Amino acid sequence: MNLKGRHLLKLLDHTPEEILYLVDLAAELKDKKKKGILHDELKGKNIALIFEKTSTRTRCSFEVAASDLGMGSTYLNPTDSQIGKKESIADTTRVLASMYDGIEYRGFEQEIVETIAKYSKVPVWNGLTNEFHPTQMLADVLTIREHFGHIKGIHLVYMGDARYNTGNSLMVVCAKLGMHFTAVSNKKYFPSQDLIDQCQAIAKETGAIIDFSEDPIEGTKGADVIYTDIWVSMGEPDSVWEERIKELSPYRVTSDIMKNAGDQCVFMHCLPSFHDLNTGIGKQIHEKYGLTEMEVTDEVFESSQSIVFDEAENRMHTIKAVMLATLKD
Ligand code: CP
Ligand code: NVA
Repeated sequence: MNLKGRHLLKLLDHTPEEILYLVDLAAELKDKKKKGILHDELKGKNIALIFEKTSTRTRCSFEVAASDLGMGSTYLNPTDSQIGKKESIADTTRVLASMYDGIEYRGFEQEIVETIAKYSKVPVWNGLTNEFHPTQMLADVLTIREHFGHIKGIHLVYMGDARYNTGNSLMVVCAKLGMHFTAVSNKKYFPSQDLIDQCQAIAKETGAIIDFSEDPIEGTKGADVIYTDIWVSMGEPDSVWEERIKELSPYRVTSDIMKNAGDQCVFMHCLPSFHDLNTGIGKQIHEKYGLTEMEVTDEVFESSQSIVFDEAENRMHTIKAVMLATLKD
């Protein structure tokens, strides 16, 4: 498998074999890291990390992975760079591509990361756009495989806003890898018909099942994984909170939902999560709307069925695999 020079913009561009290759490579790199085996195979290279939105996991994953691989990294924060304000994306890209061996971009429309890729002579990695979050998917697949021992046929239920980056990307990766994806939400929050059609076409080839339910009980019965994400994503206006709370509260992941799914079921979340009042936004929402937890209850988040911190750790190993696969000679 040769992925040298390839961009990672959205998993729709990759074959199932390529996705599984990256997950296998991540498992190998994780093993090396745990055993203390040095793997600075990209010594002398440098990467640029453009973040137009904030981050904990993705940024730290890129920085730690780059360091483990022997690379230098430069973090461009949401306010300090000239991108899009004083200099066009196309011009910034050509400057960065002349100095760095790879470019990560986190920001708004998918079109922006696609433009960066168009002008870049070095690999570009999508660290989250409004539409897709591909590096998160690799970590999720690795985590699911570590837990269940396999991927094909796993029934993943996504509850909440399924038409944003995480929900969209989960539908794509499930389609690619022959999994069963169910979006359980108010139908207004289902992915776009265009993306559903693309995933249904992929599913015909891979044996995946893609379906939808507005009923939280019927939709989660027998699920292997219940996955959710915050109800209001980065970059969305505060004014949508009221509507989201009203429309998505029936789809909160609770202990009853987990029980309904069954003992085999694990809980996953890309994080960050509003499961208690220990966050600034959580407190504000509590003061305004009286909620003490949002997309998932604290009980589920802290339960033994929750594998969210294994999932978060795997961000680093999988991002490392993406960089190694696309940069190594
Ligand atoms: N899951 C994820 O992308 O987390 P960060 O926003 O902290 O990078
Ligand atoms: N949907 C969330 C994902 C965060 C990792 C957001 O875009 O804010």
